[in-house]
Amino acid sequence: MLTKNLNHTIKLGKQFAKKLKKGDLVALTGNLGSGKTSLTQGIARGLGVKGYIRSPSFKLINEYKGAVPVFHFDLYRVNNIFDIENLGYRDYFYNNGVTIIEWAEKAKAILPDEYWQVNLFNLGGTRRKIIIKKVKT
Ligand SMILES: Nc1ncnc2c1ncn2[C@@H]1O[C@H](COP(=O)(O)OP(=O)(O)O)[C@@H](O)[C@H]1O
Ligand SMILES: [Mg+2]
Repeated sequence: MLTKNLNHTIKLGKQFAKKLKKGDLVALTGNLGSGKTSLTQGIARGLGVKGYIRSPSFKLINEYKGAVPVFHFDLYRVNNIFDIENLGYRDYFYNNGVTIIEWAEKAKAILPDEYWQVNLFNLGGTRRKIIIKKVKT
């Protein structure tokens, strides 16, 4: 998908949310400013989250109440897998909610067998390329 502005990316997130089921994990990979948090906002809205959705940079994880619980990880500040282990990630990944992870490449070793891989690219200006695929390992 190519998105032409911020609202377009949010809309894409809302549409993508319709495909998500309890227990699904969305792994977002892309540079700073590529739109990971914006897409997450769309997904969370699509899942019925009402409040403000922002990156959990300091806490590493935010939990929102939607039609299902939404767990939003941001691993930007994480430097090793032990930090992720210490978050007790299993309680989130294998839960009745939807897990969304920014900088998911840092968690590659602990991702479940099946997840949604999303790659975001900044094409300049307000254009973004967003590739969504379901991965089974
Ligand atoms: N098409 C677009 N999709 C998403 N964000 C866009 C787009 N065009 C411009 N932007 C801007 O790019 C930035 C994306 O930031 P953010 O979603 O926080 O990215 P990330 O979480 O990947 O660092 C925001 O400032 C947003 O307004
Ligand atoms: Mg972000």
